[in-house]
Amino acid sequence: MALPVRMRQIAMDGAGAPEVMKIGTGELPEPKPDEVLIRVLAAGVNRPDIAQRLGSYPPPPGASPILGLEVAGEVVAAGDAVTDWKIGDRVCALTNGGGYAEYCTAPAPQCLPWPKGYDAVRAAALPETFFTVWANLFQAGRLRGGEKTLIHGGTSGIGVTAIQLAREFGATVYATAGTDEKCAACVRFGCDAAINYNAEDFAARIKELTGGRGVDVILDMVGGSYATRNIRSLAMDGRLVLIAFLGGSKVADFDFTQVMVRRLTITGSTMRPRTTAQKGQIAAELREKVWPVLDAGRCAPVIDATYPLDQVVEAHKLMESSQHIGKIMLTVGQSMIASG
Ligand SMILES: NC(=O)c1ccc[n+]([C@@H]2O[C@H](COP(=O)([O-])OP(=O)(O)OC[C@H]3O[C@@H](n4cnc5c(N)ncnc54)[C@H](OP(=O)(O)O)[C@@H]3O)[C@@H](O)[C@H]2O)c1
Repeated sequence: MALPVRMRQIAMDGAGAPEVMKIGTGELPEPKPDEVLIRVLAAGVNRPDIAQRLGSYPPPPGASPILGLEVAGEVVAAGDAVTDWKIGDRVCALTNGGGYAEYCTAPAPQCLPWPKGYDAVRAAALPETFFTVWANLFQAGRLRGGEKTLIHGGTSGIGVTAIQLAREFGATVYATAGTDEKCAACVRFGCDAAINYNAEDFAARIKELTGGRGVDVILDMVGGSYATRNIRSLAMDGRLVLIAFLGGSKVADFDFTQVMVRRLTITGSTMRPRTTAQKGQIAAELREKVWPVLDAGRCAPVIDATYPLDQVVEAHKLMESSQHIGKIMLTVGQSMIASG
């Protein structure tokens, strides 16, 4: 099938409020030798898209300026060095940007197949949170079966994935969220206990839930205001993994004593600046260890709302309201094609 020359895409009229995003047109991106070109059927909205739209998270050099870090669709072209995907394959991909468009390129190693029985919307809901959770909770945080973990932002896109995977791999899972409704959702996703941080002190509750021991790994997206309580909530040899600073990145009067005394590890990472090889290594582990779990239906994406691409402003407004539970998705083309 011949490809069009131009495509619909979300353009930005400067940085700022959701209304800076407009439907526009542009040329199709060209795949580099190690990339595929995907006809996008669905794309995920992620909190980093909000930061990029506001101008505080610019795309790395060489990346598409178009928003959109994850897509699902069909491979329509491939660079000369691509051997593992062919035209017609249905993939979901962690992109380097450019997902809010009818066509998007992605490095071949960052693509994965649609799990069994998935449509494009569900497949597109996977890459950003599964790559992030695998890299931070399991690789950097070294969470193992039999351990205890605390997931902050339990109903965020990241949080619902973290809760499900931690439980699937045998951990006891606690989560925080801002309302009783969100806490109930965390429990439905497999959390052993959820803490409404607006109603009670999460550190006191973790102490009580763990008989004073604390948890082995904390996945945190809040940062500064949680720092001291996070340290108090970790067990001996505990690991704190920082993936965002929604509550600020700085803290006054932080006391490192407990880090030394209880042999704690404080670490963190971002996903976007990693190399293709590094992201490909995460993809390979996901394919081996997590995709069979998705194929079997033991974990699944949680989708709060789906909007057509031309309602992207509404999708961003919902994310900024923080009322959603799970993922917010965009449909771009004919998205409801089920996989075999
Ligand atoms: N480092 C990485 O590699 C990486 C990769 C992807 C995403 N991230 C980060 O991970 C976080 C979650 O991403 P996501 O796409 O899953 O986001 P999301 O679905 O929008 O969820 C964010 C949640 O954080 C909670 N929250 C706590 N304090 C907040 C505050 N001060 N302002 C706003 N929300 C607050 C909110 O839930 P409550 O109402 O329960 O508070 C909100 O629903 C984002 O900060 C994102 O930038 C990091």
